[in-house]
Amino acid sequence: MARSGKATVIGAGFYGSTTAVRLAEYDIFAEVVLTDIRDGWSEGLALDMNSSRPIVGFETTVVGKTTTTDGGGYEVIADSDVVVVTAGLPRKPGMSRMDLLEVNAGIVRGVAENIATFAPDAVVVVVSNPLDEMTRLTQLASGFPHSRVIGQAGMLDTARFTFFVAEKLGLPTSAITTLTLGSHGDTMVPVPSACTVTDGGRVRPLAEILTPSEIDRIVQRVRGGGAEVVALLKTGSAYYAPSAAAAAMVKAIATDSGDIMPVCAWTTGQYGISDVYLGVEARLGKSGVQEVVERTLTADELAGLRAAAEAVRTKSADVTGL
Ligand code: APR
Repeated sequence: MARSGKATVIGAGFYGSTTAVRLAEYDIFAEVVLTDIRDGWSEGLALDMNSSRPIVGFETTVVGKTTTTDGGGYEVIADSDVVVVTAGLPRKPGMSRMDLLEVNAGIVRGVAENIATFAPDAVVVVVSNPLDEMTRLTQLASGFPHSRVIGQAGMLDTARFTFFVAEKLGLPTSAITTLTLGSHGDTMVPVPSACTVTDGGRVRPLAEILTPSEIDRIVQRVRGGGAEVVALLKTGSAYYAPSAAAAAMVKAIATDSGDIMPVCAWTTGQYGISDVYLGVEARLGKSGVQEVVERTLTADELAGLRAAAEAVRTKSADVTGL
């Protein structure tokens, strides 16, 4: 089987290391690179992941490298097709993603500058929180075109929504289609009008199957899905579903799939919203975002999306000074 291309994950904590191993296990890349500022940590994880190859059955080479914030070691990311940014602190119980803004902005800004220097042609997938603001900051600090800087949030929030509906109905997740748009935070916009359930071969709107209050309870749980995990873990935040989401985006980009996914992308007039990074549906391929895809929303959903856009715009301006 032909393996090609190179995917890099910056930050080898829980999120980064699980993303790297998922990418390696796809067995489509020639090389997966994992970096972190913790001395020896990435090298150790890479050795461990490579040692799993004969058991799991993949031949992608995993390369681990300790880097410094001033760019030391960054030559390892040269010629990456896709770079995932997971560097940054996770939440603790009781914290909102926004509480991470200041400290993670410093980390992400430096990482973005190093990516621009060492992998100037890469597509960048950002996952550090607060997501929408860190995505904007990465685009500004890298100077990359908006289409080449994308945030991961909607895939994860949508997956949580799908799982909660499937669990409630006792159906496989494959029978459920859901969608969330908007921010990866308080102004997340679950989109019940786009949700369907396939039962007995028939595709039916979710609203025919669950009552408005049942849907509302699930929507509230989706909004707090990350916090629910943080409260249980007590230290650190979710990483299995998040890394699955980030890896799926990287795969779509690297394979030029043209798949439409809910992601954090730059808006250029869709839904009457412009010049802000926001959770929308976008077609992904080699060049990053090929197109933001609009759908018909209810008046409430549209109002929610526009409110989310303004909330993100204000916070992004705080962090970027623009
Ligand atoms: N360059 C590279 N790695 C860095 C840097 C940097 N400048 N600064 C910190 N790191 C690394 C840390 O050393 C650590 O290994 O980032 C890693 C973060 O890992 P965890 O603390 O395990 O956090 P994780 O759960 O992986 O979350 C990472 O994703 O979901 C978001 O909110 C979450 O912002 C957080 C990020």
